[in-house]
Amino acid sequence: MEALGLMAMKSPLFLSRASPSPTVEKSPLKLHIRATFPKRKGDASPKQPSAAVAVIGNAVTQSPVSPPQSSEPLLIPPLRKASPDDLQYPPGYLGAVPDRTAMGDGGDGTINAMGYLTNIISTKVYDVAMETPLQLAPKLSERWGVNVWLKREDLQPVFSFKLRGAYNMMAKLPREKLDRGVICSSAGNHAQGVALAAKKLNCNAVIVMPVTTPKIKWRSVEQLGATVVLVGDSYDEAQAYAKKQGENEGRTFIPPFDHPDVIMGQGTVGMEIVRQAKGPIHAIFIPVGGGGLIAGIAAYVKRVSPQVKIIGVEPSDANAMALSLHHGERVVLDQLGGFADGVAVKVVGEETFRLCTELVDGVVLVNRDAICASIKDMFEEKRNILEPAGALALAGAEAYCKYYGLKGKNVIAITSGANMNFDKLRVVTELANVGRRQEAVLATVMPEKPGSFKRFCELVGSMNITEFKYRCSSDKEAVVLYGVGVHTVWQLKEMQGRMEAENLKTYDFTRNDLVKDHLRYLMGGRPNLQNEVLCRFIFPEKPRALMKFLDVVSPRWNITLFHYRGQGETGANVLVAIQVPDSEMNEFKQRASDLGYDYQVVVNDDAFRLLMYFLPHPTPPFSSMTTT
Ligand SMILES: Cc1ncc(COP(=O)(O)O)c(C=O)c1O
Repeated sequence: MEALGLMAMKSPLFLSRASPSPTVEKSPLKLHIRATFPKRKGDASPKQPSAAVAVIGNAVTQSPVSPPQSSEPLLIPPLRKASPDDLQYPPGYLGAVPDRTAMGDGGDGTINAMGYLTNIISTKVYDVAMETPLQLAPKLSERWGVNVWLKREDLQPVFSFKLRGAYNMMAKLPREKLDRGVICSSAGNHAQGVALAAKKLNCNAVIVMPVTTPKIKWRSVEQLGATVVLVGDSYDEAQAYAKKQGENEGRTFIPPFDHPDVIMGQGTVGMEIVRQAKGPIHAIFIPVGGGGLIAGIAAYVKRVSPQVKIIGVEPSDANAMALSLHHGERVVLDQLGGFADGVAVKVVGEETFRLCTELVDGVVLVNRDAICASIKDMFEEKRNILEPAGALALAGAEAYCKYYGLKGKNVIAITSGANMNFDKLRVVTELANVGRRQEAVLATVMPEKPGSFKRFCELVGSMNITEFKYRCSSDKEAVVLYGVGVHTVWQLKEMQGRMEAENLKTYDFTRNDLVKDHLRYLMGGRPNLQNEVLCRFIFPEKPRALMKFLDVVSPRWNITLFHYRGQGETGANVLVAIQVPDSEMNEFKQRASDLGYDYQVVVNDDAFRLLMYFLPHPTPPFSSMTTT
């Protein structure tokens, strides 16, 4: 991929878009679009389902089911492929502003905004959903200088908004269809929504989930009375199975986002906000996965209060809507970050995309650390723990307010879900302070001689050390990796200045995920190894995932490093180093691709060179940390 440089105005991608809204005060000087790609149609080649059925516990109550054997066409229509890295811009910047010039008038059989509005008003979701409160967040309001309002969808009976859409669609089905039952595929909140709706409507529901779904999730669906079938390794495989099985059994398939009735159900969130708001709303921040929630809210709010900005928020490594709006067509992501699993969607819906193109003001991107910081904020504000997707909008709202220096306005963030996987809490607590810029992760090179460690500690001074890694080295110099609590930018800068004055090179790795996920647990010992290739793999969390990997690389190549970091995601983050001579690199890459796990080769990573080989890189110390 070719880097396009940092200047937004030089980017053809940027020039082709409408400018952000006129109230925006700062210019996007730091806009960072790392690469573009030519417009190509039909270059995706989605996999045929190769589902394997698992019967775990009593999750499958039917006789064993087999995956669809059909020569059914593709799971996903042939869409252009894109990588999350293809479109990145600074946190808080309002990007992916849709180009509305080429839009039709809705006269092609699609439901227009008025159709959505009237349907949202007459919805039946309140048979199961509650009207959630719109609560002021006083601490955050004071800190950001705006009135921060939280739309508390995490308080719904199934701890997310998803039951609104599912119930709205199912309640409209004629009784005979309900009697034949419904089916859906989901790895999370949609499953619970459908299960609860089915219980209320007295209909039979089958929920198809990937085999990798944590027990806690499928158990909670089962407890609502639905039949859980665990099929396939991925959501795509589960979905293919559910659709096929729905056809075979005459069950109605309930999609998670891409259906007008689902969108209308989610739109009731917007209706409530308009009714509950105490003053003029500047913007509503909405987490985006497939786009059902944002499309529904936009369909209502833009019709009754067009001046209110509707802003989507996506993780920077799961930005399918931003990329789709940016290119004016749906794209399918070739890789996907799974930390905010509720919004980890490779391709947005067709109808949701159409509505977003028409109604949404843009998309803000945030990283994992910022999401963790917002989970902590919510805990401090209301003593509730949001799941990552549930805290996404809050993170986006904060970044936007900071980026544009917004003051005194009313901003609303949808806290969309609280189905937190308990295992993820460890990562959240580790990253929350980094995300809030209250902790910096640094490495300092110091002389390997008596007294230097003590001197180093004196230079750190009153700053609180949160983590410290040092391993005696036979070299003349040693490297220490450490975390420090940061109260102000100046405090950190002063400390760095003290180090610099004594010629202690210091590197700031606060934003380096490789360090935060892996290297901080590994450093020490510097073998002299040839041809070491460093790779990051996402292993599916399922039995034999490791053996399958080892079958591919071993004994062909020597594994020199292996670090697994469970993050409570459906895929585990694994860092591997393998000795592969240049002449065998193509073969290695081919074998790694055939394995079917997402992976990337890490090339020339400064942190790895420093912490694992002790090769200080040539760049000056104190790489900038934009602490605010
Ligand atoms: C907690 C949470 N937030 C946000 C979303 C995104 O919703 P949508 O797919 O409608 O964009 C989901 C989707 O499941 C979710 O579970």
